[in-house]
Amino acid sequence: MNQYQDKITALRKKLGDDLIIMGHHYQNDAVIRHVDLTGDSLELARKVTTVDAKHIVFCGVYFMGESAALLAREGQHVYLPEDDANCVMSQMAPYVLVDKVLTRIKESGRNIVPLTYVNSSVAVKAVCGKHGGSVCTSANAEKMVRWAMERGDSVLFLPDKNLARNTAKTIGIPEEKWHILNIRGDGSQIDMEAVKQAELIMWPGCCAIHARFNERQIASARAKYPDVKIVIHPEAAPDVIDQADAAGSTSFIIKYVEAAPEGSNIAIGTELNLVERLAEKYEGSKNIFPLLESTCSHMALVTEPKLLNTLEAIADGTAKPVTIPEGLVEDAKIALERMLIAC
Ligand code: 13P
Ligand code: SF4
Repeated sequence: MNQYQDKITALRKKLGDDLIIMGHHYQNDAVIRHVDLTGDSLELARKVTTVDAKHIVFCGVYFMGESAALLAREGQHVYLPEDDANCVMSQMAPYVLVDKVLTRIKESGRNIVPLTYVNSSVAVKAVCGKHGGSVCTSANAEKMVRWAMERGDSVLFLPDKNLARNTAKTIGIPEEKWHILNIRGDGSQIDMEAVKQAELIMWPGCCAIHARFNERQIASARAKYPDVKIVIHPEAAPDVIDQADAAGSTSFIIKYVEAAPEGSNIAIGTELNLVERLAEKYEGSKNIFPLLESTCSHMALVTEPKLLNTLEAIADGTAKPVTIPEGLVEDAKIALERMLIAC
């Protein structure tokens, strides 16, 4: 045990049932070993609604802490070990721009329903809630796009154009009915003619970590192990997903590996911490390796020493919980709750 481990263990004992530590699968092992509840974005959102602890420490990026704070009950507080751990993709959809573009499309007469990937700010979730829309995760995007399509004549999916396109393909929305917005400047340049023809309008964001996977890496894994199975997170580009054997959320990937027979060779296209954890877990029985070593530098900002700092601050009453601006709470919560009810 290192000095941090000892101290964290002692503080956990002191805080007892008042404390719960949650963590996303992309967190590093030194953090994960202290986590009570791990999961993908959807699982963690659901789990928040079931915990009774007064203090919820959320090891993940900022939007995850915000969602947890929205779903927490009165008297519960959510803390992030690192407030600067943001998600680059979530920053690609500034809410002022989203609101403006959405309003413009609505004014053109389209009955558009906004659907934001959970990897977005609380302000964007509030805009979606206010306009009759909801939230989705990579685990339920297909279901939620169908949900949104039933409620309008078109859907604005944001911020991830890759998850949007992969989901459109799974559902069978023809490509001529998609439109990826070309957002420049203040958003007033959008192609309204193309928007009017489209059923699924996509915000042009993406995840740099998942955009690194490509067909060459897949070909080289297949050349090395002809029987290899390739499983990739749906934030990767559609051309890459087309070449894979399976695609799904982080929890889907974990189950896929679990179900694979002994002796399997499996290449995984997602954040490296999860891939390495799976490789270690199945060492000697399944050969698990990364399609490419791709790490999320924001997830990596959460460290064991910072987790210790957070617990110390909770214990001495100086910790600062995640707060949501009052004016956003109702609309953002509605957007999230629509998802939790639908899925
Ligand atoms: P999951 O929805 O699979 O948890 O993924 C979240 C994420 O940030 C992927 O990059
Ligand atoms: Fe955001 Fe990509 Fe990091 Fe996930 S891996 S938290 S989408 S930047």
